[in-house]
Amino acid sequence: MSIIVMSGCATGIGAATRKALEAAGHQIVGIDVRDAEVIADLSTCEGRRQAVADVQARCGKSMDGLVLCAGLGPQTKRVGNVVSVNYFGATELLDAFLPLLRQGRQPAAVVISSVASAHLAFDKNPLASALEAGEEDKARAMVEQAGEQGGNLAYAGSKNALTVAVRKRAAAWGQAGVRLNTIAPGATETPLLQAGLQDPRYGESIARFVPPLGRRADPAEMASVIAFLMSEAASYVHGAQIVIDGGIDAVMRPAGF
Ligand SMILES: NC(=O)c1ccc[n+]([C@@H]2O[C@H](COP(=O)([O-])OP(=O)(O)OC[C@H]3O[C@@H](n4cnc5c(N)ncnc54)[C@H](O)[C@@H]3O)[C@@H](O)[C@H]2O)c1
Repeated sequence: MSIIVMSGCATGIGAATRKALEAAGHQIVGIDVRDAEVIADLSTCEGRRQAVADVQARCGKSMDGLVLCAGLGPQTKRVGNVVSVNYFGATELLDAFLPLLRQGRQPAAVVISSVASAHLAFDKNPLASALEAGEEDKARAMVEQAGEQGGNLAYAGSKNALTVAVRKRAAAWGQAGVRLNTIAPGATETPLLQAGLQDPRYGESIARFVPPLGRRADPAEMASVIAFLMSEAASYVHGAQIVIDGGIDAVMRPAGF
């Protein structure tokens, strides 16, 4: 049996992924604010440190997989938390757990980014330099002072920088023998999406995007791709971002790949 550590497994895509990975015979050590083996708040430095320490206490010196699903949407009240959870809640766990993954069996990791990661270019991402430099307070202040569009900036900016952060790790992780990929989901029926649809600032623009497949995704449709990326069937997939959006990206940016 292999041990896979997951963040954000309480609801939505994370809960569906937990189910799929358990069905494939893996043992899950979940990190979340509720309904998980490790209860921790990834929006704070202290919470992330505690999550790492608690996981290490449970797993010892090795783990076989890592799936990072924890995330907050643009409608989140404390918009600084979007940056903290989406970016630092993923990158800090990646770096802390690489030594354990190196000791695992056929180790792999998947990070949940978003189609929003491609909504702005890294060199035009206002948050990029602060996030890359690890300046969490600065990035939080930027989105908190951005007014009505602070949520969109926090979400797209953090997901863009997250995908880039993962891609920049591809060389070192490949040499370490640990496969690392992201998925970029489009609109998926989860509590996060429902909260976005109900928000007067963002609801209409989210609802307007109807993919060519004519419906939003079920969380299980993300989980099946994550389970594939975590499996040996994906043994040569590394440093990739797999877009799972029912075709929206192809329609919006046919030449942007
Ligand atoms: N639903 C979509 O349409 C969509 C689209 C693109 C990307 N995503 C991404 O997919 C991932 C999963 O989102 P979802 O849609 O399943 O939403 P969700 O709200 O159902 O799940 C998010 C999970 O993260 C956990 N979480 C939130 N804040 C946390 C914190 N401070 N510390 C620890 N855990 C925390 C929640 O408790 C929950 O289990 C997120 O990274 C999200 O950005 C979702």
